[in-house]
Amino acid sequence: MNQKKIFAANWKLNKGPAEARQFMTAFKVLAQEFSTKCDVIFFPSAIAADAVSAQLQGSWMQWGPQNTFWQDSGAFTGENSLKMFCDLNAKWNLVGHSERRQYFGETDHDIAKKILASFDHRMNPMFCIGETKVQRLSGQTRDVLITQLSQGLSESKHFQFGRLVVAYEPVWAIGTGLVATDEQVQETHLWIRNWLNDNGWKNSLILYGGSVKPEVVPELIKRPHVDGFLVGGASLDPLIFHKLIKAGVTDI
Ligand code: PGA
Repeated sequence: MNQKKIFAANWKLNKGPAEARQFMTAFKVLAQEFSTKCDVIFFPSAIAADAVSAQLQGSWMQWGPQNTFWQDSGAFTGENSLKMFCDLNAKWNLVGHSERRQYFGETDHDIAKKILASFDHRMNPMFCIGETKVQRLSGQTRDVLITQLSQGLSESKHFQFGRLVVAYEPVWAIGTGLVATDEQVQETHLWIRNWLNDNGWKNSLILYGGSVKPEVVPELIKRPHVDGFLVGGASLDPLIFHKLIKAGVTDI
């Protein structure tokens, strides 16, 4: 399958509407050169969603929320629904990020519901999985990832033809400056690919995330089963994110 590489920006708890608009004004000009070469997806804060939606109207670039609730409406104080983001033209849904699991107690069961709700709303889930340092050091990485995959996708079996993107993000590499080695990425992505193929998710893509910087992109992008990147810190500055994408598309 000749699939374009994906460069996804997870802005986390950064950029309100004004900063998001400022970023987009600069970035849209810079990114024009990539419009036929790759896919670019933004995950802004919920409060910046409207601004990002307006900025990306008619654009080749897409966006989605970082967190949503699976019900469309009701007595769920503080939550935002997928439907609300759909109405703003969101196409993606970030699910299962390790910060959601770690700080907000999200379980595999919650994640399974969020993934199912994404398919129900015809949104593409970007499903994050990853092991902690302790799990890696004790040789549990493969088991942990396969458990996360099988539980997270357990409710969505009948949606096998939806567009699923898995983001492999080792928890120990997120925001730490430590990047998984070439060998670790290749080995892990192959495990994930094999599991996806064996479980009816053949056309899914696999991204790497965790301290991705422009310098590491040219090598990693060439590896089999690396279909792009989920980028946190290095996606916050339009010049750096542009440099990172350029490092990927010129080497494809
Ligand atoms: P990072 O974050 O690039 O800042 O490590 C990646 C992520 O958490 O998605």
